Amino acid sequence: MTTPFSKIPTHLAVIMDGNGRWAKQRGLPRILGHSQGVKAVRSTVQTSREIGIQVLTLFAFSQENWQRPAAEVNALMDLLHDYLDKECEELMQNNISLRAIGDTSRLPSKALKRLQDVIAVTSGNQGMILNLALSYGGRAEIVRAAQHLARRCLAQELTPEQIDEQCFSQALWTAGLPDPDLIIRTSGEMRLSNFLLFQAAYAELYVTPVLWPDFDRDELLKALADYERRDRRFGRVSD
Ligand code: FPP
Repeated sequence: MTTPFSKIPTHLAVIMDGNGRWAKQRGLPRILGHSQGVKAVRSTVQTSREIGIQVLTLFAFSQENWQRPAAEVNALMDLLHDYLDKECEELMQNNISLRAIGDTSRLPSKALKRLQDVIAVTSGNQGMILNLALSYGGRAEIVRAAQHLARRCLAQELTPEQIDEQCFSQALWTAGLPDPDLIIRTSGEMRLSNFLLFQAAYAELYVTPVLWPDFDRDELLKALADYERRDRRFGRVSD
């Protein structure tokens, strides 16, 4: 599809928030909010692919989310597993490759295995990268990168002076991906919540009060229309 916008983000990142509130408003258990949230994931992936976005990062599970009640964590892991199971064929048909960022080694083995399988199967796809942030924390990512680079200095593979922003960003989980151009957060909270802290330096932010399960194609198009009007100066002056 040709894009209806004069400019679109190369990398769109989304903080999918408000599943719990969506369920609470309806007197339903939180987990039903999450399963409804999977529908919004599907629609966002599909629309992003149609519009021509190259990288879509979805904040699906934070490091802090491990502290939620075990029943909710288990249900989220089951939803992830089932999503990967059902969606693999769809990703293949749409030429989408799956990636993941975060400490994925903490995922239960069933979900991790499925994740690794789908990443491997879709690795040759070129149409779009769907990047899932799972057990992800921005500070942990930065600390881990610093440790990695320190080890390389100790092994004399690198000097401290060679560590510049480019080198540092290649030590992050997002190595090889462009920085996000637009970060969407649903449910009205005005914060980054430890998401892509290094990479978000010049990202445009779009916050909508819409709760994630209600974030449909029209809501995404609204966010993209808002982005189209942004004047991105990167600290410089306008033309
Ligand atoms: C935040 O809402 C959302 C999450 C912690 C989980 C997001 C997960 C999904 C959308 C479904 C699974 C993902 C994939 C990729 C299959 P919240 O629970 O913090 O909502 P609240 O702030 O209203 O309580």
